[in-house]
Amino acid sequence: MAESQLEGLRERLTAVGQDHVLRFWPELDAAGRSRLAAQLEEIDFEALGRALAGIRARASAPPASLEPAKVVRFDAGLGRPDDSAARERGEALLASGRVAVLVVAGGQATRLGFAGPKGAYPIGPVSDRSLFEIHAQRIRRIRRRHGAPLPWYVMTSAATHAATRSFFAGKAHFDLPQEEVFFFSQRSVPAVDFEGRMLLDAPDHVFESPDGHGGVIPALAASGALDDLESRGISSVFLWQIDNPLVRIADPVYLGLHAAVGAEASCKVVAKRDPLEKVGHVAMVDGRLGIIEYTEIDATHREARDERGDLVYWAGGISIYVFETDFLRRVSADAERRLPFHASPKRIPALDRSGRRVEPIEPNGWKLERFVFDALPAARTTLVVETTREEYSPLKNASGSESPETVRRDLSTLYRRWLVEAGIEPPPEDALIELDQSLFDGAVDLRERGISRIADSGESIRIASGAQS
Ligand code: UTP
Repeated sequence: MAESQLEGLRERLTAVGQDHVLRFWPELDAAGRSRLAAQLEEIDFEALGRALAGIRARASAPPASLEPAKVVRFDAGLGRPDDSAARERGEALLASGRVAVLVVAGGQATRLGFAGPKGAYPIGPVSDRSLFEIHAQRIRRIRRRHGAPLPWYVMTSAATHAATRSFFAGKAHFDLPQEEVFFFSQRSVPAVDFEGRMLLDAPDHVFESPDGHGGVIPALAASGALDDLESRGISSVFLWQIDNPLVRIADPVYLGLHAAVGAEASCKVVAKRDPLEKVGHVAMVDGRLGIIEYTEIDATHREARDERGDLVYWAGGISIYVFETDFLRRVSADAERRLPFHASPKRIPALDRSGRRVEPIEPNGWKLERFVFDALPAARTTLVVETTREEYSPLKNASGSESPETVRRDLSTLYRRWLVEAGIEPPPEDALIELDQSLFDGAVDLRERGISRIADSGESIRIASGAQS
């Protein structure tokens, strides 16, 4: 790197109080210098400074006024799988080919401790099918049922992009047309110490992490995925998170309700099990629909109960959204304001003064993340729909709650219910069950295919007998 270029870089860094990242420069060889310089060229320090200032300003701002959100309740009939008016409307939308599906899969799966992308994790209760494959099966079924394309957009990150692409390639894109699967990567952002200074994890490298699931909206625009959606005439985008294999992808009832009220943004909720459950609180925030992350709500609102003793803020967000394409375009154009960064204290590998890399035991800085639900207040019309736990069982941890064991059990429990509802004798209680989701999404499909015994189903219903974990 030329001396003048280095000086330019140093000046920019000094102006934003980040020149400490050049402290090992004199000791770096030519390759190290160009690696660090190239990385720093890509970082928008000014935007980082504004993000940190925004975080500080919000921390000292008065708390937002909260009211419970209006929710289409499951028990009221609307939004249930047998809500035929909504279903017909949603099915028509699917048949018109104006729906796309989008999964956010850029997370690092640190709690799960899995080396590959989380989507590659083998979760099928009997088959060990991956999360990606279970989702792909559902997509195949919907495409076939409605005779229309259902493009699938997969958001990765620097941490997961290459491995995700090769996983899909190795599985022949799960028999989906390759031109209907679109990969795009979210951005990374530097983490900072508690004084807002970037952290080096090597003498020639600044530690960065994916910019949160909210990074999906700017990444859609920057990658060309949004242009692609528009060129395909997609009006509604169904978004979910990779780690929940129970999600009813492109649920026609949900799409139908969304379309019926002309919503720009919709979200599904479940009733929280207890005030501390780790799901976002869906509420009216300063008069607009929003979600307050479980780490950010105050105890008074979190614990508030009505005269019957029920939680006032009972609606927990489970990250299942429908967004209109126009809405995504509008938010992406104003992303810095609409999708502010949040800071979470984390343990971040960093060099100590002597240049030794340390894996801290306690949080030593903040990772910065955007949340996709911060887009909600920008929507002119919104809809919140309650669903049941049958649609939510995320894979977060290696053991205990929200672990492979609980997710497999919940999948198997759902499949068991379908069998029973279709009048098929299920296997003993301690057996695990798995259905091929490219064929079945409920008892109706089992009946339609004329299956009355597991033995007649070939490989499409699989059983692992005996107690399995
Ligand atoms: P989580 O934070 O719950 O899961 O993100 P994670 O990142 O996979 O795992 P941990 O936190 O490191 O243990 C919820 C969803 O949002 C996606 C994840 O892939 C997951 O589907 N996500 C999260 C992104 O796509 N990008 C991000 O930057 C963060």
